[in-house]
Amino acid sequence: MRILYALIAFSLFTNAMAKGQVMGRLSVNTSAEGNKISPSLHGIFFEEISHAGEGGLYAELIQNRGFEESRIPAGTMLKNGFLEPDSSHPHFMLEPAKTDWKMEWPLKSDWPAWSSRTTGNNVVNLALTKQQPLNNATPNNLCVTIPQFSAAGKAQLINEGFWGIKVINSKTYHLSFYAHTGDGYNGKLSVLLESQEGKELAVYHFTEVKGTGWKKYTCDLKATASDDKARFVMSFENRGKVWIDFVSLFPANTFKNRPNGLRSDIAELIAGMKPSFIRWPGGCFVEGITIESAPDWKNTIGPVEKRPGTFSPWGYWSSDGMGYHEYLQFCEDLHADALYVFNAGVSCEYRSGTYVPEAELQPYIQSILDAIEYAIGPVSSKWGSVRAKNGHPKPFPLKYVEIGNEQHGPKYAHRYNIFYDAIHKRYPGIQMIASMGIGDVNRHTLDSMHHVQIADEHAYKDVNWILRNTDHFDKYKRGNWDMYVGEYATNAGVGTGNMQAALSDAIYVMSMERNADLVKMSSYAPLLVNENDVDWPVNLIHYDAANSFARISYYAINMLAANKADINLPVALTAQIAAEKKTQFTGGIGLGTWDTQTEYRDIQVTQNGKVVYNSNFATDKKEWLPVRGNWKYTDSGALAQTGEGAQMLAVLPGKQFDTYTLTLKARRTGGYNAFIIPFAVKDTNTYLRAHIGSWVNSHCAFEAVTNGFDVSGISNQLPLAPLQNNRWYDVKLEVGGSEVKCYLDDKLIMAYQQPDKLFAIAGKDTTSGDMIIKLVNAYETTAQVDIQFDKNVLGQTGNIMVTSLSADKPTDENSMGHPQAFVPVTETINAEQLKQPWTCKPLSITILRLKRK
Ligand code: AHR
Repeated sequence: MRILYALIAFSLFTNAMAKGQVMGRLSVNTSAEGNKISPSLHGIFFEEISHAGEGGLYAELIQNRGFEESRIPAGTMLKNGFLEPDSSHPHFMLEPAKTDWKMEWPLKSDWPAWSSRTTGNNVVNLALTKQQPLNNATPNNLCVTIPQFSAAGKAQLINEGFWGIKVINSKTYHLSFYAHTGDGYNGKLSVLLESQEGKELAVYHFTEVKGTGWKKYTCDLKATASDDKARFVMSFENRGKVWIDFVSLFPANTFKNRPNGLRSDIAELIAGMKPSFIRWPGGCFVEGITIESAPDWKNTIGPVEKRPGTFSPWGYWSSDGMGYHEYLQFCEDLHADALYVFNAGVSCEYRSGTYVPEAELQPYIQSILDAIEYAIGPVSSKWGSVRAKNGHPKPFPLKYVEIGNEQHGPKYAHRYNIFYDAIHKRYPGIQMIASMGIGDVNRHTLDSMHHVQIADEHAYKDVNWILRNTDHFDKYKRGNWDMYVGEYATNAGVGTGNMQAALSDAIYVMSMERNADLVKMSSYAPLLVNENDVDWPVNLIHYDAANSFARISYYAINMLAANKADINLPVALTAQIAAEKKTQFTGGIGLGTWDTQTEYRDIQVTQNGKVVYNSNFATDKKEWLPVRGNWKYTDSGALAQTGEGAQMLAVLPGKQFDTYTLTLKARRTGGYNAFIIPFAVKDTNTYLRAHIGSWVNSHCAFEAVTNGFDVSGISNQLPLAPLQNNRWYDVKLEVGGSEVKCYLDDKLIMAYQQPDKLFAIAGKDTTSGDMIIKLVNAYETTAQVDIQFDKNVLGQTGNIMVTSLSADKPTDENSMGHPQAFVPVTETINAEQLKQPWTCKPLSITILRLKRK
C-alpha cells in the first residue's frame, strides 16, 4: 500500500512540477519524541513607545491631564532646543569617554494638548504655575485668567485628547478635575464633549466651582451623539481666575470595568493572545534617557494625581496611570505571570549612557527587593501592606524579574552578579533574566556572569532573514541556561508589517518551538502603536483614538500559540521548485550609490556569449534614466553620481534580462560606501542589488529595495577590504536562473540563492494525543507537500482540524479600513485526505491538527 502511495505521490510530484509548483516531502517521525515545549513560550512585552499606554492601552482620554508634560526630564538641561545631560558624566559603555548625546526637545508648548478659545470680546489668558501646588509630586497647574467676559461670547479651555477623543452615543464618561478660584470668579463652569464640527455631544453645568482651596469636582457626561475625534471643552462663565489641575476623563466601560482602567478594544486584542507572561515596562523605557529620569516604580503606585510621571525615551511623558499596580492587575486579569524589568543603575547606551557607580547601587537593590515584596510579600510586610491598602491583599503573580534592558558586556555582568545575589538570597523562587544587548546572546557577557537562569536575546530582522537562518537556534551551544527571546520582529523590507513579515515571523516562532530545549519564552516587539505618533517602523497592534486592528503577524503568532504542542516530533523536509520557475531574477539593470560619489563605465550585458547591451556614455547621453541623485556624463566617458544622500539610482529603461552576465568598471571618488549594482529591477522602487563596500566600505551584501527607500539585506554581510578612492575596479554579476554571483576584479566575493521557502515542524499534544503539523509556504506559488509518517498515524486519526492563513500578495496587510482582511480560517477534513499530498496555498501558514480517534 505504502508503495502505491509513493507512486501516486511521485506522479503528483511530476505533474506539479510541470505546472510550476513547489513540491515538498515531509517525513514525521512519531516514534522518536523530541524536546518538551515550555508552557511559557508565548508571552507579550509592553513598553511605553508610540503611545502604547498613554493614548493607547491606558483608557485616560485627556492628554497632559496634570499639566506636567512641559517639565524638562531630570538629569538634562534644555539648550538651544536640545535636551543635554551633564557632559562631564562618563558613558557606561564608552568610559573614559564622556556622554556627548543630545536630543531635540519635542514639546513646543508649556501646556501641550491644551488651548484656549474665545468668541466675541472675551479674553482668556493661560499660564502654567506652581502656585499652591495640588501636591509636591505634581506641582504644576494651569491658571486660566478671564479678564474680560460677556455672556454673549465664549471663554473656553480645550483639550484635544490623544489626537481626538472617541465619543459614542448613549455612553457615559466619568470626568473629574481639581479647581480653585479667585478674582471674583462666580462659580459657573460648563464641561462639554464637542464634535469636530463644534456640535455638543455631552454637557454638564457646574454652578459652584468656587473657593480658595483645591477642591475635586466630578460629573458624568452622557453622550447624545457620536464622534471619533471629539474634544473636551471647559467653558467659563464669568470673568476672574480659575486654577485647574488633574483633569481626567474615562469611559465608564473599561476592560473588566476597572476604575483607572484600560481601553477595552486594545486590552481585548491583547487578551486574545493568551500570553503566559507580560514583560513590562521596557525596553529603552526602563533605561531612561538619563539615569536620573529612569522610571521608579514607587512613583507609579497610589493616588494617580500624585504620580509625577516618567519621561519616555521615545519623546513624550507617561502619566504612569498604568503603573506597577495596574500592570500586576492586568497580569492577573489575563492569567499571565508578571515579568518585571528594572533599571540596573544604567541609562540607555544609545542615549546619554549615564550611570550610577557600582558602589552606589544599594538604593537600586533595595528598590527591586521592595518591588518584589509589593507584588508577592505578605500583607504583614511593609510593601505587602501597601499593596493591600491599594486594594489587593492577595499576592500578584510575579514570577520573573529582568536585570536591566539590553545591557551587555563584562561591566554589566559584574553588576548583574550583585543584583542576582541580593535577589536570590531574599527571593530564591523568583527567576532572573539577564539582558544581552541588541542581538544574539553573547559569550562575552554570559561568561562573566556567575549564574544565568535565563538570557534575553533581542531579534529585529530583515524580511526573509529567518529563511536563510532557520538553524539560528539549532547552532547555539547549549549550557545550563534557558533562552528568552524578549523582543523579536521581522521589521525591515515589510512595509508597516505585511504578509511577508507574518510568514517570516511564523518561521521564526516555529524555529523557537523546534528548539524548545533552549528557547523557553518569547515576546514580539513592539506590541502597540498609536498611528498618530509612530516611534518604531513595525508594530503588532495598531490604533487611533477610535479604532484598532491587529496585523497579520498577530494572527500568525496566535494560531501557532493556540496549537502549541508540548513535545516536538522530529521532521525532515525537502522542497523542489519546478524548472520553469527558476528564472528568478528577470528584470532590468541599474547603477546606484548610498552616501557615496561613484563613476561607472563600460557597462556590458552578454547572454549565451552574445553581447546584448553595451554602454557608450561618450556618445549616448540619453539612454540611462537618472531616478535620484546628481548623475553626470564625464569627459572620460563615465556616468558619475556626484550628489550626497541615500538611495541614488539610475536605470537602463526598457530593457529586461534573465540569465546574463553584467560587467562594468566602477570607481569611487568620495563618500562612505562604494558600488551599488541593481538587478532584477521591476520598477524604480523595487529591485535587488549587489552592494559592494556596504557598512561604510567594509562589507558586501545582496539587498532588496522596496518602496524606493526600504532596504533589507537578503544575504548576510560578508567582510570586504575597503575599496580605494579613484581606482577603477572590474565588477561582474553572473545572473543565473536561481543564483547570482558577484565578482570584484575577477574574484568571487559573494553569491546569492533564494532560500527554501517551505518550512515545517511537528509535535504532539500529550494530553489530547493530537498530532500537530505546522507548515509555512512562503513561495508565491502552491506547494504540494507529501506528508509521510513512520507508522500508521492516519489510522488512529479521527479527523483533522485545519487552520490556515494566507494572502494573495506578499505586500498584503490588514488595515484600519480592513482590519480582518487576512485572518485564519478553520475547517475540519477527513483523515483520508492526508493520504494525498497536502496543498499549501501560496503565501500561507497552515496547521493540521490530527485529532486522535
Ligand atoms: O522595541 C523597541 C526597542 O527595541 C526597545 O525599547 C529596546 O529594548 C529595543 O532596542
